[in-house]
Amino acid sequence: MERTFVFLKPNAVRRGLIGEIIKRFEQRGIKIIALKMMWLTEEQAERLYEMHKGKSFYEELVEFVTSGPVVAMILEAPRVIEMVRHIIGNTDPLKAEAGTVRGEFALTITKNLIHASDSKENFERESRIFFEDTEKVDYYLDV
Ligand code: CMP
Repeated sequence: MERTFVFLKPNAVRRGLIGEIIKRFEQRGIKIIALKMMWLTEEQAERLYEMHKGKSFYEELVEFVTSGPVVAMILEAPRVIEMVRHIIGNTDPLKAEAGTVRGEFALTITKNLIHASDSKENFERESRIFFEDTEKVDYYLDV
């Protein structure tokens, strides 16, 4: 079984889209292994986006993701990394298909509502920035 890491960015929280987005994962039968609301520190945001350091959008991105609380989660399902990226749509809302989270609710690439890991390695790295092992809960999910 595969896992992925997702967080809802501050504008998803401010716009009241937490339930709308989580619903889309739940209705697909994806299992929530960990879930919490938190305010990212600048250090956590910098670690998360370290591969983008030096790029033109980096500072705006770090400032944005630390501008309010986020909702972080670990999700589990077969091929869940690909499945979640399919549900949320292209990073650039302009290219995101209709029916995806970004295709329906997002306008700009920085404020694209949600982040999801793009590989198993990044899931390991990113989930460690947000969660302790003790915060992960496994249980039987009836799908
Ligand atoms: P995310 O999935 O969180 O991963 C990196 C983020 O950088 C991305 O979503 C966007 O919010 C942000 N970003 C801003 N500008 C760009 C850009 N030109 N290309 C890629 N990502 C960008």
